[in-house]
Amino acid sequence: MYTNNPSEVDKIRKEAEVLNKLGLSAFFTDDVNLPFKTIGAIGFKNQAQIHARKYCLGLVNTLPEGTVYENTKVINIEKDEQNTYKTICENNAVVKSKYVVIATHYPIINFPGLYFLKMYQDKSYLIAVDTKQKLFDGMYISAEEPVTSFRTATVDGKRLLLVGGSGHKTGDTSVNINASYENLENYIKSIYPKAEVLYRWSTEDCVTLDKIPYIGQFSSLTPNVFVATGYKKWGMTSSFVAANTIFREIIGNPDKDAEIYRATRMAPIKNAKEFGNILKESANSLVINRFKNPILSIDDLKVGEGGVVSYKGDKVGAYKKSEDEIIMVKPFCKHLGCQLSWNSIEKTWDCPCHGSRYDYEGKVITEPSKKDLDRI
Ligand code: FES
Repeated sequence: MYTNNPSEVDKIRKEAEVLNKLGLSAFFTDDVNLPFKTIGAIGFKNQAQIHARKYCLGLVNTLPEGTVYENTKVINIEKDEQNTYKTICENNAVVKSKYVVIATHYPIINFPGLYFLKMYQDKSYLIAVDTKQKLFDGMYISAEEPVTSFRTATVDGKRLLLVGGSGHKTGDTSVNINASYENLENYIKSIYPKAEVLYRWSTEDCVTLDKIPYIGQFSSLTPNVFVATGYKKWGMTSSFVAANTIFREIIGNPDKDAEIYRATRMAPIKNAKEFGNILKESANSLVINRFKNPILSIDDLKVGEGGVVSYKGDKVGAYKKSEDEIIMVKPFCKHLGCQLSWNSIEKTWDCPCHGSRYDYEGKVITEPSKKDLDRI
């Protein structure tokens, strides 16, 4: 974790000391293996860089055959008379079990957990770059905002640099998404003038109000249902904590640190500023924006453009796919009804409240919504 900001250096130095006291082999350095100058960094030796997909496939291979069901969307969890939980899937399949772990990124069950009141989603962007130069090893992240991260990946035998950053809250209409990618691209070209951007994509991450994941019992009313969420972009590490914590809860031998992550803790709600932001966003999207007239009319849309427009006196979400085809949806989220905003780069409908996303035809692509939008 590096900085170029003189006011951060002391904090970084202190953090390295604290990490050492905790038994982690962290060290302070100003000599970082990056292609630009840094004035201070915390380093960790002997880290492993994990290929996320290969890692997942390895995990699946440790399970008995036939225990992983793909393409089987879960839509509900119910309890039966024998105190067994039934996990209900879209295709009417049911899995019965004594315990359930909701690890659906954003929890897809609203009640009784009320996670929609204590969590939001953040979007961040990545580009994969052929720098045309020899690349460094290691993984790096800036200490200050805006956060930028670097790591490498090998694609078809070629080593590429992955650059991440430009994060913002999902569905934030004040953000120019195109500029989010452009900022990353311009930044990397200022370091590697011949760099070629080969891929770009975005991701969403759940953020809790106190920035600590929710791991443990889903709610006090559902003793054998657990949740693991709110990793704030640290999923590869936090998921290890979640697996260990929940496993230990189930076998009745709780981890000593389980309390830190307890999902039913009230502390996040006491964070008045963040809680207020969630309420304000919901009020805006549920009530104020909902009754505001759209600025655009359907005739304003050019081919490839979309937005919330007025059409025959109604408010609709429209995407002009070609001169002859306009695809229209009701622009209200199927999770809790917030008004959606149009993402002009990825051609999706994004929800500012809790981050559900839908493609331009209205098909849900990101939870917590489980349903597609109504088509007009
Ligand atoms: S994601 Fe909750 S209302 Fe849209």
